Amino acid sequence: MIAPLDRRPSSPAGHFYQPYGAALSMWKSRRREVVLAGPANTGKTRANLEKLHLCAKKYPGMRGLLLRKTRKALTQSAMVTYERKVLSEAWRHALHFNTHDQQYEYPNGSIIAVSGMDDPQKVMSSEWDMIHVPEATELTEGDWQALTIRLRNHVMPYQQLLGDVNPGPPTHWLKLRSERGATLMLHSRHADNPAFTQEDGEVLDALTGVWRKRYRDGMWAAAEGAVYENEWDPAIHRVYRFDIPWQWPRYWVCDWGFRNPFCWQAYAQDYDGSLYRYHEIYRTGALVEDLAKEMMAVTAGEPRPSAIICDHDAEDRATFERHTGYDTVPAYKPITMGIQAVQKRLRPKGNGRASLFFCMTVWWASRTLNSFANNTPCVPRANLNATNGTCRMAASSRRSRWISTTMDSTVLGT
Ligand SMILES: Nc1ncnc2c1ncn2[C@@H]1O[C@H](COP(=O)(O)OP(=O)(O)O)[C@@H](O)[C@H]1O
Ligand SMILES: [Mg+2]
Repeated sequence: MIAPLDRRPSSPAGHFYQPYGAALSMWKSRRREVVLAGPANTGKTRANLEKLHLCAKKYPGMRGLLLRKTRKALTQSAMVTYERKVLSEAWRHALHFNTHDQQYEYPNGSIIAVSGMDDPQKVMSSEWDMIHVPEATELTEGDWQALTIRLRNHVMPYQQLLGDVNPGPPTHWLKLRSERGATLMLHSRHADNPAFTQEDGEVLDALTGVWRKRYRDGMWAAAEGAVYENEWDPAIHRVYRFDIPWQWPRYWVCDWGFRNPFCWQAYAQDYDGSLYRYHEIYRTGALVEDLAKEMMAVTAGEPRPSAIICDHDAEDRATFERHTGYDTVPAYKPITMGIQAVQKRLRPKGNGRASLFFCMTVWWASRTLNSFANNTPCVPRANLNATNGTCRMAASSRRSRWISTTMDSTVLGT
């Protein structure tokens, strides 16, 4: 099915674009992998989209791809910029969006498809001339490398994978890849964006901590106090929700709190021992009895947990047991060992797989708020909140030895 594009008129000045600074260098480059890195609002995404459009016009039959980690994320971001800013009115009349194939179709036979890594079939079964990945830090290096292999349509005289990123931790794979010379990383600045206003600057000036360093100053900075920053990679550890097999054992972990946040997390463990967090309640000012009822409601129809590991408070444990009918075991909580256990689980092993995962909707519901409060991007922090504590408790145990070891207080953080 063909859908016309939004044909509302653009700004009175009409469509005009001129790349500056790093954007201009990116336009001129024919390197196979080019990434624009820099603070927010320097024109990175716009520059890449403009190049994609330019090449679609210039090379008839060219196949371009606009891609993010999820297809859904494109709708409200790069696709809006493309349709409202990149395409002139005349182009908006000339192009169609093919809803079946999810692609913009040019009169000269070129196409720009839109997709996400959540639809690998579409991405990997085709060949492309140019791929643009906004927010490329969302991808794993494996995703990125898979894309480079699919760049072989050869309608354009060169094949190119373009990305744009706000800086992340200094150990991020994309930064290391550019340091190895595999990817050309160009550093974009606010001076490159003629549309950047004083108000835009004031918004960024108001940022603090690592947000300021990354989004205002464009630095690949580590989040202070974020213990898992080196290991934590949302592209690896955040996973799409899935139907958890009934046979996988479930473990609940509780850290009591009233004035400090209470946190409960439910994990399921697969046959390889990997843990998946699939429920979480993170709240202040709630009574244990109410929370217990809520947990029972949320987990209705699920298998009974194999173990419920709790912070030690005897009264809270007793209240919880009374309202759920479940027994609990006290957690074994040496902090350093717990942190090491989490780090070990987060680190990918020889097979490229980590062994601790966070199902996505849970993550976004709770953690983003939590990390905004802590002024860090979504990175668990040590000792600062209950979520992190419960995560440590879960990760320091292994299925076969869970109950006995927590009972006799022998940690298993291997
Ligand atoms: N060279 C340019 N000329 C005019 N407007 C621009 C230019 N570069 C960027 N912009 C505008 O600035 C805004 C921010 O650009 P964007 O590409 O989204 O920034 P970033 O991806 O770096 O956060 C957008 O509205 C974009 O259209
Ligand atoms: Mg952008």
